[in-house]
Amino acid sequence: MVNIAVLGYGTVGAGVVEVLNVNGESISKRCGHEICVKYVLDLRDFPGDPIQEKIVHDYNIIVHDPEIRIIVEVMGGVEPAYSFVKEAILKGKSVCTSNKELVAKHGAELLELSKQKKVNFLFEASVGGGIPIIRPLNQSLTADEIEEITGILNGTTNYILTKMSNEGLDFDTVLKEAQQKGYAERNPEADVEGYDTCRKIAILSSLAFGMQVDFEDIYTEGISKITDTDIKYAKALGASIKLLGTSRKESDHVYAMVAPMLIKPTHPLYSVNDVFNGIFVRGNVIGDVMFYGSGAGKLPTASAVVADVVDAAKHIGTNIMTLWSSKKLELSGMKNARHKYFVRVAGNTDEIKEQAALLFGQVEEVKAPDIVNEYAFITTHMSEETYQEKASNMDHIVSMIRVMF
Ligand code: HSE
Repeated sequence: MVNIAVLGYGTVGAGVVEVLNVNGESISKRCGHEICVKYVLDLRDFPGDPIQEKIVHDYNIIVHDPEIRIIVEVMGGVEPAYSFVKEAILKGKSVCTSNKELVAKHGAELLELSKQKKVNFLFEASVGGGIPIIRPLNQSLTADEIEEITGILNGTTNYILTKMSNEGLDFDTVLKEAQQKGYAERNPEADVEGYDTCRKIAILSSLAFGMQVDFEDIYTEGISKITDTDIKYAKALGASIKLLGTSRKESDHVYAMVAPMLIKPTHPLYSVNDVFNGIFVRGNVIGDVMFYGSGAGKLPTASAVVADVVDAAKHIGTNIMTLWSSKKLELSGMKNARHKYFVRVAGNTDEIKEQAALLFGQVEEVKAPDIVNEYAFITTHMSEETYQEKASNMDHIVSMIRVMF
C-alpha cells in the first residue's frame, strides 16, 4: 500500500479523491500497489462529508509522517505551494501537481531537487488538464528534435471565442455568461489576457528544448480586444480566431508568443472548440502530432493527477529523468518573428486602400457584410519590426490580428 496526502480539497482535490474511490480497484492493479489517501490538507472543515476524518489543518503532520510517500499538491498559486512542495521533496517524498504557476516558476529547481533525492516531481495536469502532453514530450517524443509546439491551452478563452463566433455575440456578453455558468473565474484576467496560456507554453517549451523558458520573456496578448466585427471578418475569410500559445525553433533561435491568431480549416487546431484544448507538436522525425481533449474541469484534471500518482508509486526510489535545466533559454526577440497581419483601419475606404498599398505593397483586401467606414486587408509575410514600422505611419488602425495561413 502507498499512502498519499492531498493538499487542497477544492475542485481538483475532490476530483482526485473521487477518481481514487471510483477506479481504485483498477488503479491498484495497474499500479501494483493500493493507493490510500491518508490526509487531506485544507483550511476548512467538511462536517457530514466522509472526507472530514482525513482533514488536517497543519502541513507538519503530513510532511513529518514517514508513511506518506507521495504528496498531491492541488492548491494552486506559488505560495505556500512552493514551500510545501520543496520541503516534501527534501524529506524524500514524491510530488504530483496540477499547479502551472508553481511549475512555470520553479519547475527546473524542483526537478533537480527530486533527482538528488531520488523521488519524482510530476506535473501532467499543469498543461492541458486531462490531455497527456507532458509525459509524451518527456517519454514518447524523445527520439525527435521538437521544431514547434502550438496549442489552444486555455478552455475559458476558447469557449468565449467559440460562442462569439457561433452566436455573433460580443466579448463582454459572452464573458458574463461564462462567469454565470462557472466556466470563467470571477477574476478572469489570467485567462482572457493570456497569462494562463503563457505559463503553459513556457512549461511546454522548457520541456521541449530542455532549458528554462521564463514566462516573463514571452510576448503575450489576450482576447479582450477581439470584437464581434473581427469575428465577422474571420468568417468572411473562412477562418476562425483562436488564442494560441506557440513556440518554434528556427536554426538556433526559439520564438515564443501568445496571441489571438486567424487560422483556417486546414490547420489541425481549427476544429478545437468550446472548452476543449488542443496541442499541435511538430518533430523533425515524427512530423505532426495532435493532442486533443478536456483542458480543464474536475475529473479530467484529476485523471492526469492520479496517473502521475500511479507513475510515482511505480517508481518509488527511482527518479524518472526529465530534461529541464535551470539554464535560461534566451528567446529570440519578438521583432524578428514573421507573420502575415490582418489589419482593420477606420476612415474613407478609397484613401486607406491607397495608403495601405503605398505602405505595405501588395495586400489582400478583406470584405465582410454590413461593415462601413473602414478598410481591412492582409499583408504579405514580414517581421514584427517591419510591420510596426509601417503601421506607425497609418492612422486609425482599429485592430490587428496575426494570420497563420
Ligand atoms: N482557467 C484554465 C482554463 C483552467 O480555462 O483553461 C485550466 O488550467
